[in-house]
Amino acid sequence: MARVLGSFALLALVFCVAVAADDSPLQDFCVADMNGHVLVNGYTCKNPSWVQAEDFYYGGLHMMGNTSNSLGSKVTPVFVTQVPGLNTLGISLARIDYAPWGVNPPHTHPRASEILTLLEGSLEVGFITSGPENRHISKVLYKGDVFVFPENLIHYQKNNGNTNAIAIAALSSQNPGVISMASGVFGAIPEIPVDILAKGYKINGDAVSNIQHKF
Ligand SMILES: *[C@@H]1O[C@H](CO)[C@@H](O)[C@H](O)[C@H]1NC(C)=O
Repeated sequence: MARVLGSFALLALVFCVAVAADDSPLQDFCVADMNGHVLVNGYTCKNPSWVQAEDFYYGGLHMMGNTSNSLGSKVTPVFVTQVPGLNTLGISLARIDYAPWGVNPPHTHPRASEILTLLEGSLEVGFITSGPENRHISKVLYKGDVFVFPENLIHYQKNNGNTNAIAIAALSSQNPGVISMASGVFGAIPEIPVDILAKGYKINGDAVSNIQHKF
């Protein structure tokens, strides 16, 4: 019994070692073979001899994203799906455009911390901590400012001015993932039962249905 417990303690220790990003590759690169059919944690590797510069390349990030939507913001991802050479490397980035007063609403990245650089405009940004519970850390950013959103925490950005804003966000995963608080909860398919959301959000069922219909 003691030995079994000891083994669990050892296991617990091993898994305590913080993984700060996607696992390190054991080769120079593992350019994603997008046509591979084997399911692994990422994509299988292309034969290194067949790899080309294009596999590590993305063009067009100077182009403004289309912010003509109800939020007034647009994320242009440069993840492994766009750049197969990012496979197994634990990094990626995105361009984010904001129309005047546009919002990138509260969301999390289940696999990545994010470091955002504001290139143009002004943003109001923030995230919520789990300890202390629900502490709101926020700041107004100006051109040239950098802000960090720690992995998994709910965060948001809002354009704080009447000009366009542009940011570049770097993320510590080839595939950061995104869970939107609003559409994740109120736009789930199939939907989360109304009574559950009504209790959880302390609102009545009609208010829940009303929000659900918007997603
Ligand atoms: C931007 O998106 C809107 C809404 O989807 C669309 O009507 C419009 O044509 C798009 N503009 C450009 C330049 O693609």
